[in-house]
Amino acid sequence: MLAASSLSPLSPSAGPLSRPAPAPLRVGLLGVGTVGSGTARVLARNRALIRDRSGRDIALCMAAARNLARARPLLGPEVELVDDAQRLVRHPQIDVVVEAIGGCDAARTLVLDAIAHGKHVVTANKALLALHGDEVFAAARARGVMVAFEGAVAVSIPIVKALREGLAGNRVEWLAGIVNGTSNFILSAMRERGWTFEAALREAQRLGYAEADPRFDVDGIDAGHKLALLASMAFGMPLRFGAVAIEGIGALQPADFRHAQALGHRIKLLAVARRQRDGIELRVRPALLPAGSVLANVDGAMNGIVVKSDAAGLTGYIGAGAGAEETASAVIADLVDVARRAGSGPASQVPALAFHADALRPWPLVPADAHVTRHYLRIPVQAGAGVLGELLDALAGSGLVVQTHHDAHPEAQDDSPGGAGGREIVLLTQAAPLHAACQALDALRALRCVRAAPVRLAVEDLA
Ligand code: HSE
Repeated sequence: MLAASSLSPLSPSAGPLSRPAPAPLRVGLLGVGTVGSGTARVLARNRALIRDRSGRDIALCMAAARNLARARPLLGPEVELVDDAQRLVRHPQIDVVVEAIGGCDAARTLVLDAIAHGKHVVTANKALLALHGDEVFAAARARGVMVAFEGAVAVSIPIVKALREGLAGNRVEWLAGIVNGTSNFILSAMRERGWTFEAALREAQRLGYAEADPRFDVDGIDAGHKLALLASMAFGMPLRFGAVAIEGIGALQPADFRHAQALGHRIKLLAVARRQRDGIELRVRPALLPAGSVLANVDGAMNGIVVKSDAAGLTGYIGAGAGAEETASAVIADLVDVARRAGSGPASQVPALAFHADALRPWPLVPADAHVTRHYLRIPVQAGAGVLGELLDALAGSGLVVQTHHDAHPEAQDDSPGGAGGREIVLLTQAAPLHAACQALDALRALRCVRAAPVRLAVEDLA
């Protein structure tokens, strides 16, 4: 059983005006990995100032881990450590469960069980919420408990609070963000330090940035989970992860970084949610951004998000996008919210997805092939005169207008395996829907002067 001593309220610090010590908020932690151990550490280190902000002590009483021997040294002696997660989520003396195990199956079962037992839940699990959030939030509403998830999106950045509270008076027009720290770390290391993709990924894993399965990071899936959450809060719609058009960074070549730079751009894995006349666009893709733009200069494991709304205009948010204490910062902010608001009743609570559940609307979604951007085309061609003219004719036939072109110099070319290794022409087009660009790629492939499949990337102008 949980030791009675570990659940006793600690004496509050004596303030100038003493008041009766409110009961502590008793926390049960599921998982003592990167996020769980970081949360335990920051809670212990900043306990007094967190109490002064939340108005009551936030006491980590119990933790559940699979490997008890590895978890024990990461927790204070007052924390009871168990290997039975189900016992923790049902324990009558736990007020709030911090879910830090990640993944979907076990996490979903445990979170729903915790809610059914009247516990508030704090989680940084974006996959769980993107896929099962509608179910989890409905269960929480029915049981009158809170589910808080600031750590699920761009960990250290209080973007959930910004969208739900700070921008509550606005109509959001679009938002765009770098919301995966691992892929941004990889892209930055490849561009700035000339690292290979594999070496950069290994380092991101060593630093604890990557997901348990790093394909979630590099394939854009993690960013897609986060975009689904952001879009729901921005536009007031149910979670639509399945409708996010997703492309990862795995196909990028060193040549693309060089050409982007020569054209005054940088490549980022960008998540975009945009309100259009016909519906909402949702996409995660590697894209070229003007080199002087704010997001183009968010490097390493940092995340950045820009929101355009009607009253506030452009607002921007930058901060660490991964890491143990960086995520703990958000998890603890949620615990403070729970400590301040628990028991206040649904009317005083902030709706999980920013809009009250009965106000969420199933906005139509714009199909990915109708999304309009400029396009970057890298076209491996045979040496010879007249090639550029042939390309431009083929593109004009698909309705694509070329704005600028760049003929790669032989010394700047990429001889790496899978790289370009020959003459290439790089074009930037005017804005056109994706289907027109795909049609143009088919036309280019059919030309005799084109010696390998052309590469296309979006150019995101945002404004
Ligand atoms: N793997 C995630 C990232 C962790 O790199 O952004 C934070 O969500």
